Amino acid sequence: MAKQCIGLDIGSSAIKLVQLKPSGRSMSLQNFGIEPVPPQTIVDGVILNHGAVVDAIKSLTRRIHLKGKQIALAVSGNSVIIKRLTIPAMEGPALDEQMEWEVRQNIPFSRDDVLVDYEVLVKQTPTGQMEVLLVAAKREIVAQYQQVVRDAGFQPMIVDAAALALQNAVELGIGFAPGDTVAIVNVGATYSTLSIVSSGRPSFNRDLGTGGNTYTEAIQRTLGVSLDGAEAYKVGGAFAAAGAAADVVPQEVHRILWQVSEQVAEEFQRSLDFYMNDAIDARLSRIYLSGGSSLVPQLPKAIQDRSRIPVEIINPFARVIVDTRRFDVEYLRVNAPVATVAFGLAARRPGDSE
Ligand SMILES: Nc1ncnc2c1ncn2[C@@H]1O[C@H](COP(=O)(O)OP(=O)(O)OP(=O)(O)O)[C@@H](O)[C@H]1O
Ligand SMILES: [Mg+2]
Repeated sequence: MAKQCIGLDIGSSAIKLVQLKPSGRSMSLQNFGIEPVPPQTIVDGVILNHGAVVDAIKSLTRRIHLKGKQIALAVSGNSVIIKRLTIPAMEGPALDEQMEWEVRQNIPFSRDDVLVDYEVLVKQTPTGQMEVLLVAAKREIVAQYQQVVRDAGFQPMIVDAAALALQNAVELGIGFAPGDTVAIVNVGATYSTLSIVSSGRPSFNRDLGTGGNTYTEAIQRTLGVSLDGAEAYKVGGAFAAAGAAADVVPQEVHRILWQVSEQVAEEFQRSLDFYMNDAIDARLSRIYLSGGSSLVPQLPKAIQDRSRIPVEIINPFARVIVDTRRFDVEYLRVNAPVATVAFGLAARRPGDSE
């Protein structure tokens, strides 16, 4: 059996790494780590400072004594497009030809500039249609991410779309019930990724332009502090709201954390409403939250209050065997939601399609 890939999620604020190993019917955690990325290194999903990302990967992988070379990574942001299409049922060369046409219709980039993959979700619906998931990513961006991995001394085996890695993580870590429609929201630093999954199949994907930086910038602006100071206030404020060290964080920070959480919840609700208007099977049973900014305690509450749908923070390691002598269990528990995309990537095998 092919070995698992190492899951590497290169984010604009931090790199997350997860390595898993099959263990009986379950998986065991082999390695885990998070490494900060300096500001302005990655902007809008584009790597502006190649050396800084290479250095971060090298320092992370050395620090955690990573063994293994084969990496699965993800791309996200404006250069990635995921669409679920309904087309007349067909197969073979006719389908390939149809998909070429669909790419030209649905992808706002020149055909030569994108890498394209598609997956048949439903071969034939009762009305003689088929459902296909079309994934396109800008060639140049994929090449950039592959190159940082190579220059850090690793082999990029798989490039996935972050939204699909996210779905993979929920499927493995929690599972999808047949007939159930759920939303998965990964709130990172720059932006948030929303995926709606229906009966285990991707149904709708959208990137939202708010994330952890929206909080930090609001604190910086309002309190007139540095970006680092604002970040410390945010994380401290988040902990305070969770019941610790409340006295060291200005009340103002709490107010901002609430305000921005409500803004994120509102933006998210608009996308949900957009989806609900279109979908026939639209009855969301749960919203799963992941990413570093899911640690802002006001956020799950704001989303739940607005949507009136139960919100659950993802712990991708819930079913994973963890050697408590090797890993800091508390660190892992706190950071599990941050590692969701990396976990979804770590479940991939080198021979899997992209
Ligand atoms: N304990 C915490 N409380 C509040 N916010 C936190 C906490 N820990 C991390 N964050 C925030 O989470 C964000 C980082 O999350 P994550 O690692 O998912 O983002 P990223 O993948 O680097 O960003 P992106 O995907 O947008 O490029 C940062 O904005 C950071 O400030
Ligand atoms: Mg991210």
